[in-house]
Amino acid sequence: MNDEKKKPIGVFDSGIGGLTVVRELIRRLPGEDIVYFGDTARLPYGTKSPETVMRFSRQNLSFLKDKNVKLIVVACNTASSVALPALEEEEDIPVIGVLLPGARAAAAATKNKRVGVIGTTATIRSNAYEQALKEIEPAIETWSLPCPLFVPLAEEGWLDNEIAYLTAKSYLEPLAGFGADTLVLGCTHYPLLKGVIGRVVGDGTVLVDSAQETAIEVEGMLDQRSLRSDGGTAGTIQVYVSDVPYLIKEVGERFLGRPIEKIERVEFK
Ligand code: DGL
Repeated sequence: MNDEKKKPIGVFDSGIGGLTVVRELIRRLPGEDIVYFGDTARLPYGTKSPETVMRFSRQNLSFLKDKNVKLIVVACNTASSVALPALEEEEDIPVIGVLLPGARAAAAATKNKRVGVIGTTATIRSNAYEQALKEIEPAIETWSLPCPLFVPLAEEGWLDNEIAYLTAKSYLEPLAGFGADTLVLGCTHYPLLKGVIGRVVGDGTVLVDSAQETAIEVEGMLDQRSLRSDGGTAGTIQVYVSDVPYLIKEVGERFLGRPIEKIERVEFK
């Protein structure tokens, strides 16, 4: 196997929510080594200004590049919404965000051209999903809403109880009035709440999980550039964070869906 193929895939997020993307990457690309960086010391990004998210994203990217990765996944909807175009332009290695894969999947799924988008305040304010959807299909109308309370619910593991259900209900009931047949889960944490979200919006609404769609895009990009690892053995995962908050291992394992052997703390100078 050539050296480029053997290099790991780099993934970063504002915290450990991006492990939902890693979970999908492992499912699709089990032979790949993955280096993950979660900026837990500076989380959340979803309430911060675009300039700050841009600065943090550049630092995260440079940390991963020092780990000699072959491709970088911006596994954070907020960073993908406000920083991705600049990062793609600045970098000499492929950088993939979670936004475009999600928007493409939503555009393909909608029949009535009415799409709901939920995410952090920064993601929704950026209008990045709306713009991407319009570029793909100008006839698409969007309804968008920040759902910040989903983030602590997912981290607390309150995924399917009454409080999670009522929170989803009060956020998402207006979606029925808009008549969307597709809803983009535009935040790393939301796939964990698919169950309650699905109960509120009903079977007639397709839920687009940008984590799954991103993994499909990464696979395509690796094949296109002949970068897919063909080692035949299961890949490794290295998890780095900028702080080790309480319960990080438990919460991280919930997002990843499997045990995490080691979490290393790093500090940017
Ligand atoms: N990872 C963020 C996102 O997907 C959610 C958490 C945050 O606000 O930093 O937008």
